[in-house]
Amino acid sequence: MKNVILAIESSCDETSASVCIDGKVMNNVIATQEIHSKYGGVVPELASRAHQQAIGPVVKEAMTTANVKMSDLSAIAFTQGPGLLGALLVGGAFAKSMALALDIPLIGVHHMKAHILAHFIEEPKPKFPFLCLTVSGGHTQIVRVDDYLDMTVLGQTTDDAVGEAFDKCAKLMGLPYPGGPLIDKLAKEGDKTKFTFNETSMPGLDYSFSGIKTGFMNFLNREKMKDADFVEKNKNDLSASIQRHLIDMLMEKVELAVKQEGVSQVAIAGGVSANSGLRSKLEEMAVEKGWETFIPRFEYCTDNAGMIGMTAHYQWLAGDTAPLSVSPMPRMKF
Ligand code: KG4
Ligand code: ZN
Repeated sequence: MKNVILAIESSCDETSASVCIDGKVMNNVIATQEIHSKYGGVVPELASRAHQQAIGPVVKEAMTTANVKMSDLSAIAFTQGPGLLGALLVGGAFAKSMALALDIPLIGVHHMKAHILAHFIEEPKPKFPFLCLTVSGGHTQIVRVDDYLDMTVLGQTTDDAVGEAFDKCAKLMGLPYPGGPLIDKLAKEGDKTKFTFNETSMPGLDYSFSGIKTGFMNFLNREKMKDADFVEKNKNDLSASIQRHLIDMLMEKVELAVKQEGVSQVAIAGGVSANSGLRSKLEEMAVEKGWETFIPRFEYCTDNAGMIGMTAHYQWLAGDTAPLSVSPMPRMKF
């Protein structure tokens, strides 16, 4: 009998559903919430409402395009955390209702572990052990992955996530949310060595991104006093320069982790791994240092239910299912 899992992701501002059959992700339906762009960040209340509207149609589309009937399903998986409480509740309640109605198991998935296991959706897949730099709007971590469900956080941010730093710096330049992809785009036409900003560094494998954000803000304020149009005139060079700083900060610790762990397979995951500068820097370092690198396809970098289905498959094989009383965990531990 086939193992057919319906997976639901609703942790932030993407409502997504995917059908995963025997560990193969059949589809990945994603509804992105555009409503937040004018507010400069995700508005939790609006995110919950938008999930509520999108979840029914998104699940239906995933079931239809995978040609799967309700009676074919073996389990329902959902993102249990971390994420926004109201957003997680929508996916969690929907998943529970389906599991109850169909009398099938429920699987609660950790969002960040799922970002890492997105590497097993398509070839080439990393072999164990490997290191994964997980970079999103809420997290920045270096994780050692010894098996599908055996992961250890080696280092992480002590304040802002790198995605947050991208978005906040973009906001300081007057760009809409999410600013990360816009900085990426503007940086392509800019000189990354043009400007330098003050940054703070943490010992070991931990990160801090609040210092560079303040350094960037102070720099802009100083320059704007001399020329009110400074930002407008220098958007490309500013984007390229802040992107270079953030990427160098990320990769410095990755290099340290490779040395410390003696593991030279390096993967990146999470929304910021869609960044073209980070991708090319990783490839460059791979050639220079003899690493083997893994970068998921763009669709599987940002939030998606395919990665939830993939993770649920391994949890299912390990017998890791959740009771109907399971609740969303906004700060779910790794
Ligand atoms: O993983 P994700 O989709 O959602 C969270 O779990 O947070 O990551 C979203 C983050 C946002 O901060 C967004 O600006 C950033 O990923 N992001 C990028 C790029 N694409 C998405 N940052 C820089 N360059 C990009 N191309
Ligand atoms: Zn994410």
